[in-house]
Amino acid sequence: MLKEYNPYLEYKDGELHLEGVSLKNLAKEYGTPLYVYSASYIRDRVRAYRRAFPEALICYAVKANFNPSIITLAKEEGAGADVVSGGELYLALKAGVDPSKIVYAGVGKTVQEIEFAVKQDILMFNVESSMELDVLNDVGQSLGKKVRIAIRVNPDVDPKTHPYISTGMKKSKFGIDIKQAKKEYEYARKLKNLEIVGIHCHIGSQILDVSPYIEAVEKVVELYWDLSKSGFDIKYLDLGGGLGIKYQPDQANPEPEDLAHAIMPSLKDVKAQIILEPGRSIVGNGGILITQVQFLKDKGHKHFVIVDAGMNDLIRPAIYSAYHHIVPVVERNSKYIKTDVVGPICETGDFLALDREIPYVERGDYLAVLSAGAYGFAMSSQYNARPRACEVLVEKGSVKVIRKRETYEDIIYSY
Ligand code: LLP
Repeated sequence: MLKEYNPYLEYKDGELHLEGVSLKNLAKEYGTPLYVYSASYIRDRVRAYRRAFPEALICYAVKANFNPSIITLAKEEGAGADVVSGGELYLALKAGVDPSKIVYAGVGKTVQEIEFAVKQDILMFNVESSMELDVLNDVGQSLGKKVRIAIRVNPDVDPKTHPYISTGMKKSKFGIDIKQAKKEYEYARKLKNLEIVGIHCHIGSQILDVSPYIEAVEKVVELYWDLSKSGFDIKYLDLGGGLGIKYQPDQANPEPEDLAHAIMPSLKDVKAQIILEPGRSIVGNGGILITQVQFLKDKGHKHFVIVDAGMNDLIRPAIYSAYHHIVPVVERNSKYIKTDVVGPICETGDFLALDREIPYVERGDYLAVLSAGAYGFAMSSQYNARPRACEVLVEKGSVKVIRKRETYEDIIYSY
């Protein structure tokens, strides 16, 4: 069952290993909470995208995990980057991503961020509003450059995922209503410092059923032909990210190939290059959060396992009621307990699992929280003045610290 999450994850003599490295030894050496990532898994996932979409540009969505070593892995496998802030652009460049493979989305880009990206000559901006077109045009003028753009269209498709991570519906703040898009393209055409090169669309995240993609792509392709007829030279169709991953034991871990089978038929006559922006489906099941049991508490009607990873380390359960599978790092026996697995933070929402059956544990045991590679460390904070966790990358038996655990001093310096 573990192998369905990550083929490099296995028990050896009752101890959990990732790429041949004992997670118990890592926890002892580097302390907990500890994020551990599998480089081979991440490489495999980029390769799987490249195999499924041989002609496409795969832009790894840096927001899922912005550790420069992780971005570097994706880059080494041929990926570009999808960024959403000046900071992410900075990190992508630091990791050596070629600017001609960087796309930049986001509803609230500042002038400073835009200038930075224009100077770097990135592939294109994914524009989210009419006003942004004007600002991009102004920046282009002041820097004496033509700014390449795609308009992010909102196709009003329900991706059937958590409402907080649905982005392609009418009511969401993202993109421009696909019905208004042509008008905006006509407007952009009049702006001298813009070069219209693409159409962008991203409907949401953790999408397990590929049918909403088909619906969205069909609408985008319709716009593509309409624009082409009106003389626009659309070179890129950026279809966003969003492919889901296995979190629950009974969920599937869809392959990029499944997505290709779903959408490629609608794209067969399209001449534009396809861009995809996967984040979670590259790194999600490449990462594990190791935490140590601090206390057990039985309130009669309810049992608690209190661990040292809090919502500041992994906030997904708190804000999306997300399920993360939890397994012991060292197997004990087959006895199970029904429990809440909670963190040390002063919030009722500080939990990793509620009413979950997990194998019996004792104080000091280590637990592995699976599927934590995407939006795990990336969304972590110092809430309750807790230094952020250490991150370690393993590859075929080798171990590399890719971010040191923060100290109390670091908390002061970050103010
Ligand atoms: N492209 C754009 C424009 C996006 O907004 C996103 C994610 C992606 C690509 C990558 O999507 P992915 O392939 O990772 O699904 N914090 C939430 C997820 C937020 C996703 C935001 N946008 C979570 O933990 O589930």
